[in-house]
Amino acid sequence: MLADKKILFGVSGSIAVYKAAEWVRELAKAGADVTVVMTEAATRFVSPLTFATLSGRRVYTGMFEPDSGEEVTHINLAKKCDLFLVAPATAQTIAKLANGFADNLLTSLALANRAKMLIFPAMNSNMYCHGATRANLARLKDYGYGIIEPDEGKLACGDEGVGRLVDWETARDALLSAFAPQDLLEKTVIITAGPTCEPFDPARHLSNRSSGKMGFALARSAKQRGARVILISGPTSLKKPSGVEVINSATALEMHDAVMDNYDRADIVVMSAAVSDYRPAKLKEKKVKKGSGSIALELVPNPDILKELGKRKGKAGSPLLVGFAAESSDHLEEGKRKLKEKKLDLIVVNDIIGTETGFASDTNQVSLIDRDYQLEKSPLLTKEECAYLIWDKIARLMQ
Ligand SMILES: Cc1cc2nc3c(=O)[nH]c(=O)nc-3n(C[C@H](O)[C@H](O)[C@H](O)COP(=O)(O)O)c2cc1C
Repeated sequence: MLADKKILFGVSGSIAVYKAAEWVRELAKAGADVTVVMTEAATRFVSPLTFATLSGRRVYTGMFEPDSGEEVTHINLAKKCDLFLVAPATAQTIAKLANGFADNLLTSLALANRAKMLIFPAMNSNMYCHGATRANLARLKDYGYGIIEPDEGKLACGDEGVGRLVDWETARDALLSAFAPQDLLEKTVIITAGPTCEPFDPARHLSNRSSGKMGFALARSAKQRGARVILISGPTSLKKPSGVEVINSATALEMHDAVMDNYDRADIVVMSAAVSDYRPAKLKEKKVKKGSGSIALELVPNPDILKELGKRKGKAGSPLLVGFAAESSDHLEEGKRKLKEKKLDLIVVNDIIGTETGFASDTNQVSLIDRDYQLEKSPLLTKEECAYLIWDKIARLMQ
């Protein structure tokens, strides 16, 4: 989704410059067209050659370079970019940007630039919390710059506190948000994700192979498109998406209660979790001991959360309802049956048999069936691309 985007990447003189080198590598890998501009101080930390090699392009370090020729670098580079980011952004560069300085190529380009601007501060926490830096960042916000607050933790100088350059995943979310359509602005979205685990003794449970990747991708992309996101997640090993409210729920009953408690807040509910249809009738107090014979486990049905939500539909202001069907056969017939039975606006059908689709894989191939039985089939995509496709469809259904 960052392919062919023209990104002007400003680097100023913080110890975190080496992390920016990794970001440039990731952007280039994603197919973005990255041009790096370094301040003189930045070149003291990492050589321009590193950035030139990683971006595959010339790196700019000064306004008065002898080989600039007839090109007016500080105007031309700014004209060509889709997005301008500064990472790491030092206290010094932030102060210059806030006050309209144009004393080096990076700050001059920022003044000439008309594209979206993102600032990723990185500095010691005392510098970051100083009134001057706070005031400078507030001013940049007023200019319409996106400010991505640094992380808290151990800093390079040995201090502990706020000021660490955010990780690539957070940076990537910010970049995608800058390019994403803001068609979910002001919408509250509930997304369920992952498996549920149904315990039958203190050590064991019944579960399924869902990894939560699809639901987490939906949560991240909804956030990028401007939504307030409530992610109700079964047990997964995935990292919490930034800016998303996460409610952990282990069992189907817990997930049911979490969905119902938040239902009134939602404009859209997307049930992508693989909720266990059954749970053990009784939870044994002690671990079941190994014996020689077979044992039987009695199962009772769990509530069908989607069906219950479908029954609530029709009242004014009821949210748009999206279900998932993980099928191993008769995919489309099953999808249509569930769409009708549960009164859904959209069902996303996926195949859990293939190795490149469904549970745990990083890719998926989905069929979307809407409330008018219109069918849309996707090619094999990453789960993130699938999520974008699903939100495109939901945004159209919301109109
Ligand atoms: C080892 C070292 C690490 C530094 N790290 C930071 C930093 O993380 N953030 C910051 O704002 N300044 C940091 N500085 C100070 C800046 O390099 C200094 O303010 C410089 O003038 C910034 O210039 P620039 O903004 O034009 O790149 C550091 C300096 C040194 C010597």
